[in-house]
Amino acid sequence: MSRPRVARVLLVGFMGSGKSSVGAVVAERLGWELIDVDKRLEAELGLSVAEVFATLGEEVFRTTEARMTADALEGEQVVIAAGGGWAAVQGRLEGAPDGTMSVWLDVSPEEALRRVGTQPGTRPLLSVPDATAVAIDLLERRAPFYARADVKVDTDGVSVEDVSARILDVVLGKDPKPDAE
Ligand code: S3P
Repeated sequence: MSRPRVARVLLVGFMGSGKSSVGAVVAERLGWELIDVDKRLEAELGLSVAEVFATLGEEVFRTTEARMTADALEGEQVVIAAGGGWAAVQGRLEGAPDGTMSVWLDVSPEEALRRVGTQPGTRPLLSVPDATAVAIDLLERRAPFYARADVKVDTDGVSVEDVSARILDVVLGKDPKPDAE
């Protein structure tokens, strides 16, 4: 395996885009640590994301998420699976430290809902009666932020293995920019 030229991989994208699953494969292949921010936050607060939203409120969630993601970005040889809302704030991706390769895992709202539908309760923002309309609207508003990532990889109809392989190709310098527009 050739030597990675990046210090950390930052996976961003909508809920259900596969950040955690892809992050686990990419980290394992690189021999790097996976930092799954939602999981770290749940462990630190001793509550599920849904419980944090319900009991402490979204603002506390967002503040904690911002702090934990900033901490994660100080690491080297790490793959970071950010929460779906983290990158959708002005300056977040632009402010990532040098050596960060940010990757937008793109997913359609329909596919995202199909994927997260199997994990009820983990995505309070989509645990609503009109989830399709909410997902379409939220993704439309967030896409311009996600698009600031260094690399975009389409995930609809693509396996976790294949998405991970594309990212590894970029990290290892074989493919400068898949899906570059
Ligand atoms: C959120 C996405 C979730 C989690 C929380 C809020 C969002 O993470 O952080 O429910 O605002 O998009 P995933 O993208 O890992 O599902």
